[in-house]
Amino acid sequence: MTRLSLTSTPLHQVAADALIIGVARKGRSLVAAPGAETVDKALKKRLESALQALGATGKAGEVTRLATLGATAAPTVVAVGLGDAPGRGETYDAETIRRAAGAAARALAGAKRVATSLNAVNGDGSLADLRAASEGLALGGYAFRAYRHASKAEHRAGIAAASLVVTDAKDKDAKATIDRAAVIGEAVERCRDLVNTPASDLHPADLAAAAVELCGGAGCNVEVLDEKALAAGGFGGILGVGQGAEHPPRLVRVEHAGGTGPAVHLVGKGITFDTGGLSLKPSTAMEWMKADMGGAASVIATMWALAKLRVPVNVVGWLAIAENMPSGTAIRPSDVLTMYGGKTVEVLNTDAEGRLVMADAIVRASEEKPAAIVDIATLTGAALVALGSRLYAVMGNDEDLGAEIRAAAGSAGEQCWPMPLPDELRKSLDSDIADISNMGDRFGGMLVAGLFLRDFVPGGIPWAHLDVAGPAWNEGEAFGYTPKGGTGVPVRTLVEWLSARAR
Ligand code: BES
Ligand code: MN
Ligand code: ZN
Repeated sequence: MTRLSLTSTPLHQVAADALIIGVARKGRSLVAAPGAETVDKALKKRLESALQALGATGKAGEVTRLATLGATAAPTVVAVGLGDAPGRGETYDAETIRRAAGAAARALAGAKRVATSLNAVNGDGSLADLRAASEGLALGGYAFRAYRHASKAEHRAGIAAASLVVTDAKDKDAKATIDRAAVIGEAVERCRDLVNTPASDLHPADLAAAAVELCGGAGCNVEVLDEKALAAGGFGGILGVGQGAEHPPRLVRVEHAGGTGPAVHLVGKGITFDTGGLSLKPSTAMEWMKADMGGAASVIATMWALAKLRVPVNVVGWLAIAENMPSGTAIRPSDVLTMYGGKTVEVLNTDAEGRLVMADAIVRASEEKPAAIVDIATLTGAALVALGSRLYAVMGNDEDLGAEIRAAAGSAGEQCWPMPLPDELRKSLDSDIADISNMGDRFGGMLVAGLFLRDFVPGGIPWAHLDVAGPAWNEGEAFGYTPKGGTGVPVRTLVEWLSARAR
């Protein structure tokens, strides 16, 4: 985890391995963004021409290193592209700053100390920009190294320490801003670590134990229901999905009691590995199914952050955990499960397992008369077809709740898009023999999955369903502050939303 600090030493005088500055494109030339003035002066006003000579253009995410040969206290300047310079009356938006800081942090992985003035690219040095720059540094410095040999250069740790240059390093609001960014960064890191851990080392009991260790350690109350307790309680969905696996399922309840009034309930899908079950996935589609617990991991990380930040709000997190394996004991297509609460489900496709574990947990959460339920699940491949891999979908039964979540995503720097739950698709889930089947129309598969869950939400409870199958995992190259593999989406949205609710 990158240690963040404030300094009021002018950037060119900060003793560090590298100084990170912002550069932008203006017409066909490159301009240094505000915050680089003292460095430019130390370089005898030749910063821009030197960078241009090295081929820098200012394009977003581009990283150019310049040796300063004694002109600054640090040996190198790292110029990171911000894209097009804002026009008159415009500013760089927070996400542009966050991504630039992240790209620089990725390029500087392994550095002991860096310093930056990216928080000042808009000149005024607002807290919002300080937040964005520090979050970018914290998020971009991530590396998952648990399984790598330490000597390989590309396996270097992130940046050990980063200083942000501000006018007043003693300012309490500025200090609170970077401290919060550090907690958010650490929460996202924990989510990414869990998602990246192979399923052979993260069986259902291990994921439950991670919740006990992390959330319990931060002060949450954590209860774990094992397979016996699940059987006694009648959790047919979670048990049914887990019954083919050697490693039995779990349901975990995590509580952060920070405020007053009814709690918001978060429900996370925790399939530690999704083979599809007897409706077996082709092997290429299975490659990253260790990440099918990304929803549960995001709930763990969010609960941890709420406890660390002492957010004055009541929140209960539910983790619906199982491993979806094919075997002689696995559920068969056509089996009927009796879910928690008594509804029966005909399982026509054992690969539509997420909705089964989620439905049990949603019904259980509903018993506690929640202020709202938000469920987070890597639920459908159709979510990737619809929105690609960077946006998650927001569905639900409450326009205001959906709007709150979308607004929180916007301020946190995560991308999502609203999706409908069209009533006419519901009949495709009708079963010939049970209350509902787990398989409906192929077209609109993401919406059909949302409609399945809607049947398990009692009327009167505001509910939002986040299908994060796209952005929870980055299959492509790293970009901005987002690494390959587990991304930590939507932890930042959830912490932002719940913090806003507390206010
Ligand atoms: N975990 C998958 C969804 C998924 C697929 C996430 C690809 C990320 C990438 C889920 O359990 C699943 O298999 N869904 C099926 C549902 C279908 C059988 C109705 C799907 O999307 O194909
Ligand atoms: Mn599946
Ligand atoms: Zn799944």
